[in-house]
Amino acid sequence: MAAKSVTRGTTGTVTAILACLGLLMAGCESGPPVPSPAETSPLIVPDISGASVHFTAQGDIGVRKDSRRVLDTIAKLRPQFNLALGDFTYRAGVEQQFCDMVKGKLGQDFPYEILAGNHDSDGKDGQLAKFVECLPNKLPGLKGEYGTQWYVDVPEKDPLVRFVMVSPGIDFQNEQHLDYSLQSERWDWTTQALDGAAAAKIPWTIVSMHAPCLSVGQYDCKVGKDFANMLLAKKVDLVLTGHDHVYQRTHQLGTGPACSELVPDAFSPDCITDPDTTMVKGAGTVFTTVGVGGESLYDVNNSDSEAGYFATWSGGNRDPAYGTLDVTLTVDQLTARFVSAKDYTFTDAFTIGR
Ligand SMILES: [Fe+2]
Repeated sequence: MAAKSVTRGTTGTVTAILACLGLLMAGCESGPPVPSPAETSPLIVPDISGASVHFTAQGDIGVRKDSRRVLDTIAKLRPQFNLALGDFTYRAGVEQQFCDMVKGKLGQDFPYEILAGNHDSDGKDGQLAKFVECLPNKLPGLKGEYGTQWYVDVPEKDPLVRFVMVSPGIDFQNEQHLDYSLQSERWDWTTQALDGAAAAKIPWTIVSMHAPCLSVGQYDCKVGKDFANMLLAKKVDLVLTGHDHVYQRTHQLGTGPACSELVPDAFSPDCITDPDTTMVKGAGTVFTTVGVGGESLYDVNNSDSEAGYFATWSGGNRDPAYGTLDVTLTVDQLTARFVSAKDYTFTDAFTIGR
């Protein structure tokens, strides 16, 4: 379903002209204020109900030219909401500037939903609390702690998808990791959120976390092997991450008789449940890193030990591209594509269907 959109400047100008024409009869003494160009920004008023859900997702954004280009790309796609997967400013003191940039491109009321990255959570490069304050949650029915560990069903009534947003593997204040180890409180919170979606027969589950497990970029499995395998065991449909400033998307992966567990830094072809771009729901999990929201790109390693799991990747040294993932869900199909920002050409597309 398309988001409703109104461009304030055009509407305001037309209203003013019509009002003035009416007032010409009376000498045109006054009229409603006409917004200056600086006050006109895209205003997306999303309608999040009905038979489809449309969202965008990306992380590692910054306050740069490419950050603004990616926001322009998002604005053109007209999603109902955006998931920002962490790392917003990379420096302290410009939190409000970041929020103003987002609102200037997407509108004051657009649901730009945030999850902490390591540059936001430890307080050194920006305060998470400030981002939470200036980009507050706008999705109804959200449970948990917005910005850090939360879930929400979309639409709220008769949901098509549960988004579970968690923060394993990154430092918070005082260099503390939040504990997502096996059967910790936060592990249990996550598994209960996923089990709850299954019990409620919500068709799709999507997990977001800043740091990935598998990567052909710079990082190893910061979220931990147990946590990654739990997501596979729960048959999460799609896992979204940032942290590595690359775009990379795995094949559909799953554990079972042929693959007892996913082992980081190695490759087992038996853990791939579907190697093409049209996948079947329930067969496994697709991991997608979208760390290309605007901050400078990292190189990818084409011969990484985990490369066999990946269907495609892009980085500073291979098909570089800033952009966003663009996802549409219906009860029967998840359709995803990578949409490059202006002047970049890399693309990706995949579906998961019944
Ligand atoms: Fe980052």
